[in-house]
Amino acid sequence: MDAAPPPARDLLGRSMLVTGANAGIGYWCAEQLAARGARVLLGCRSAERAATAVTAIRAQVPDADLRVLPLDLGSLDSVAEASADVGERIDAVICNAGVKAADRSARTSDGFDLMVGTNFLGHFALVAQLEPALAPDARVIAVGSIAHRFATLDPATLDAPWTGSSLRQYGRSKAALMSFAFELSRRWSGSSRMAVCAHPGYAVDPLTPPRPGLAEVSGFVRALSGPSRALVQGKDGGALPIVHAATAAEVVSGDYWGPGGLLEFRGAPARVAASDDVRSTAIGTALWAAAESITGVRFPA
Ligand SMILES: NC(=O)c1ccc[n+]([C@@H]2O[C@H](COP(=O)([O-])OP(=O)(O)OC[C@H]3O[C@@H](n4cnc5c(N)ncnc54)[C@H](OP(=O)(O)O)[C@@H]3O)[C@@H](O)[C@H]2O)c1
Repeated sequence: MDAAPPPARDLLGRSMLVTGANAGIGYWCAEQLAARGARVLLGCRSAERAATAVTAIRAQVPDADLRVLPLDLGSLDSVAEASADVGERIDAVICNAGVKAADRSARTSDGFDLMVGTNFLGHFALVAQLEPALAPDARVIAVGSIAHRFATLDPATLDAPWTGSSLRQYGRSKAALMSFAFELSRRWSGSSRMAVCAHPGYAVDPLTPPRPGLAEVSGFVRALSGPSRALVQGKDGGALPIVHAATAAEVVSGDYWGPGGLLEFRGAPARVAASDDVRSTAIGTALWAAAESITGVRFPA
């Protein structure tokens, strides 16, 4: 069988920041973008894990143009430092980093609920403070989740202690990030900038091609997981709709992209439907105000 052709170098001259680029879907976004010639900034909280990702990308793309940007989305100080340190034009920000926590008492270093604080508020503060560095045609991509559909978004209780399942609270944090992106898209209308949502479907490590130092999975587990490929996909596949949202010419601001297959779990990138809540202007503006008030970070006018 012929080897796959090398990817087009169509992103030469473009700089793209991927948060949480040292593992999982963020890693694969970074590798795929680097393979197409983009300069990739890896926004990571661990220098060691970031270095492992850089080595893994360079093993695939020897001339990859990479920079590690120290970034802990659970710390507003770290987010402010990273934004101030960027010092170069950014063409796309992929808000990928995310946590799932089962512990209701888990908090960011600023005392916010861990999932809302990391997945939403950290990215809100990041994009707000990066704004001066964004290119006139920059794209901001919010990595959402199918779980947003099971969430109730109430801006007034955004950072309140939660009850119910951790999946519901996770969905709430992802819904908040998506609502922010749709609101940003409305605020950027009339400019060439785009804010877009994308989700990876259902993406798991055992179906992901191996990369040294990243999510090591035994051959036995890989073999056991093989049949699940009919329904779900690897994290390399999960990155595809996100990279598509960040780069494809057919994408427009306010889009939502995900895998086009059964249940949106896997498959080629396609436009998918977001909930009425995350598309609501009333919720989006209230959430934006709540995020500014909670973080103390204001978007430039
Ligand atoms: N996998 C799926 O099926 C799926 C489905 C829907 C949505 N998503 C979303 O896709 C994104 C990536 O998921 P994944 O499966 O690739 O997860 P993952 O393998 O657990 O990777 C998460 C990444 O986020 C980083 N991160 C977490 N907290 C951070 C913080 N405070 N500051 C900076 N980076 C932080 C992690 O860095 P560390 O190594 O330092 O922890 C890691 O690089 C998430 O936003 C997730 O909600 C995933």
